[in-house]
Amino acid sequence: MDKGIEGFSKLTKAQKIEWITRAHFKNPEDAKNLLLNYWNNDSDIQKKHDEFIENSLTNFYMPLGVAPNFLINGKPYTVPMVIEESSVVAAASNAAKFWLNRGGFKDEVLDTLKVGQVHFLFNGDPEIIHSFFKKNKPQVLEVTEEFSKNMIRRGGGIQNIKLIDKSHLIPNYFQLHVEFKTADAMGANFINSCLESIASKFKELAQNDSKYLKGEGVEVVMSILSNYAPKCLVRASVKCPVSDFIPENGWTGNDFAKKIIQAVEIAKKESYRAVTHNKGVMNGVDAVVLATGNDFRAIEAGVHSFASKSGQYTSLSNAFVKNDIFHMELVIPLAIGTIGGLTRLHPMVKWSLELLGNPDAKTLMKIIAVTGLAQNFAALRSLVTSGIQKGHMKMHLLNILNQMGASEDHKKAAIIYFKKHIVSVKAVGEFLKKYSLK
Ligand code: MEV
Repeated sequence: MDKGIEGFSKLTKAQKIEWITRAHFKNPEDAKNLLLNYWNNDSDIQKKHDEFIENSLTNFYMPLGVAPNFLINGKPYTVPMVIEESSVVAAASNAAKFWLNRGGFKDEVLDTLKVGQVHFLFNGDPEIIHSFFKKNKPQVLEVTEEFSKNMIRRGGGIQNIKLIDKSHLIPNYFQLHVEFKTADAMGANFINSCLESIASKFKELAQNDSKYLKGEGVEVVMSILSNYAPKCLVRASVKCPVSDFIPENGWTGNDFAKKIIQAVEIAKKESYRAVTHNKGVMNGVDAVVLATGNDFRAIEAGVHSFASKSGQYTSLSNAFVKNDIFHMELVIPLAIGTIGGLTRLHPMVKWSLELLGNPDAKTLMKIIAVTGLAQNFAALRSLVTSGIQKGHMKMHLLNILNQMGASEDHKKAAIIYFKKHIVSVKAVGEFLKKYSLK
């Protein structure tokens, strides 16, 4: 039974490893060696990683792959993707190649507003707090001027601040709802700093002007950015003549387009399917978000809340045919950045950004959205034609072989054999058994 430990964070890394492996593992030496094996040989790189978080013991690898042949607004890109799911990079590359020969992807950023809120309670007449806010708004904003200077120079800063009465939700609940632009930064620190100084100024003014507020004070609950970003939107789209779809399964291009549209319609109307449909979109989105050092939890939270904005969770993408042209598009919120945060610290993030030509935040929004759309198209194409397992299990073959401890010779032979046979755990097991007897 784990009794816990006092002052763990104060131990050295070596002491932490010693304690954790002795306290929790049957074979502490093996557990320790595994951790050490994953350290980087370059002590500077290792130190950087250790300093990202508290109590860091080692590194946790994820593969970084690339998907070439993306044509976005006429410009070619090779997209870096960090993901463990075996078929995702292959699917993105396939879709990129498919659309490369059909005009590529078109993309536009619709807006880049981010939101932060000061949540507070006021137990008085709503009209009084509204007029108090109106009177004091310039002073409330003034406190952010000093640290907004740089952001304003880069084209960002506070765009709008308003007081919203939310007392229909919780008695006495109001908020200062602030809209920001943060140029090429994700901007979380800037937004939270602005909000905290706005909140303390607002509280101070309320304390000093208690007569105006008829003795009712302002009780600040918290100040924090919102990861719901329905005004920080990007649209990615593709189109091609229906006749451009290569006939498969005896289908015409029209049959294929119809099937894709039916699949999207189901995701629009039915939440169980919508969640999986959107998970396919996020396979592409998250992989690029991770490779470029952005906060995938924030993106996930923002995207899924956007998918439910109507009150029903629905598809993020849309597909239709107009005048014999097939269109598919994806609109998602992406509050990301290309400066600050991990972008300067993580060597592989720097590498990924350079691979993309060191994009500004708007360009990166477009690249991420396109990868999401490519992934969604690739998933639907498989689902409505061969089914997902054929491609999935082909890509999964190496994982299965590794899990079964296959030798390099066995792996080579299996790859050749399974070009013509259906992959399953059972089939691979049987193949290895037979092959070993030869
Ligand atoms: C698997 O990671 C993603 C899919 O399930 C997406 C979808 O069903 O559209 C294939």
